[in-house]
Amino acid sequence: MQPSADSLQAGNYIGALLQWRDLQQTYDAFFSVVDLHALTQPNNPAELREKTRRTAAQYIAAGIEPSKSTLYVQSHVPAHSELAWILSTLTGFGEAGRMTQFKDKSQRYGQDGTTVGLFTYPVLMAADILLYQTDIVPVGEDQKQHVELTRDLAERFNSRYGAAFEVPVPVIQKDTARIYDLQNPTSKMSKSAATDAGVLWLLDEPSKTAKKIMRAVTDSEGSVRYDRENKPGVSNMLVIYAALTGKQIPTIEDEYAGRGYGDFKKGLAEVVVDEFGPVRERALALLDDPAELDRVLAANAERAAEVANRTLADVYDKVGL
Ligand code: ADP
Ligand code: NA
Repeated sequence: MQPSADSLQAGNYIGALLQWRDLQQTYDAFFSVVDLHALTQPNNPAELREKTRRTAAQYIAAGIEPSKSTLYVQSHVPAHSELAWILSTLTGFGEAGRMTQFKDKSQRYGQDGTTVGLFTYPVLMAADILLYQTDIVPVGEDQKQHVELTRDLAERFNSRYGAAFEVPVPVIQKDTARIYDLQNPTSKMSKSAATDAGVLWLLDEPSKTAKKIMRAVTDSEGSVRYDRENKPGVSNMLVIYAALTGKQIPTIEDEYAGRGYGDFKKGLAEVVVDEFGPVRERALALLDDPAELDRVLAANAERAAEVANRTLADVYDKVGL
């Protein structure tokens, strides 16, 4: 994840962290806070450094174990930038120009606001993946195209220079793990939402979280029922409820049958606060001791670099550097 805010939001937690936490039980997992990627957006240096630390603390607080998985800051492992350069020499200009995320973002930023870094972002992402001989990449649907590019680059390199990379497979997260904004339940909940009234921050005070849920947009029908098209607000809250309790949506519908939205929201607020409260406490405790957090991140970066440098050395050798 990019360190693009002080706090992660419920979508990051449900759509990414919960799954990563499970994956680390069966896989040798690498997780990074991608601060180099964050430079493609305007940043204040002191704030970027702080957001990077805060994002890492929230990974750990949410259950990513730095003793089991490798959890590091992207820029601490220089091989990412180095491999990205090599891969950029294998990437077609037109090929990179076809990335829909670039098209969307460059349209928003305009001709002068669009940097070459934004253009080559997917190439850096390919390096992030390929350095670790990655088998699977858990991503949202919106990142699928970037993983396809990564596969193409891996195959191209392997056939041109000899096998250096595992060709990774994207594992697309289920649509049911997609969380929407509480005030605008047809758009994705995001760290970079224009207003935060509909964003549930992992580090918000519990009372604030509860208030946001009580004010969430619903509809005039009055029944707690899953119907994405006609009841996006209620459906979104059902998805959050289900994700955090492990209950099936029909079970939750039954529980709230004949009861109003007020009751349902109160129930959901309790569920979210019970889940996020302890995560928030752990994150704040970690942030209280920045030296220790930095030590953990440095040790993990060292572990990451060991693997990454092995791949990079092989690549340098194969291309004639
Ligand atoms: P944001 O929009 O909050 O900046 P990112 O684009 O940095 O989020 O995504 C970080 C991770 O969180 C990705 O794995 C992404 O799929 C996941 N994610 C972000 N927002 C949501 C959401 N609303 N629902 C589900 N997953 C999400
Ligand atoms: Na983002």
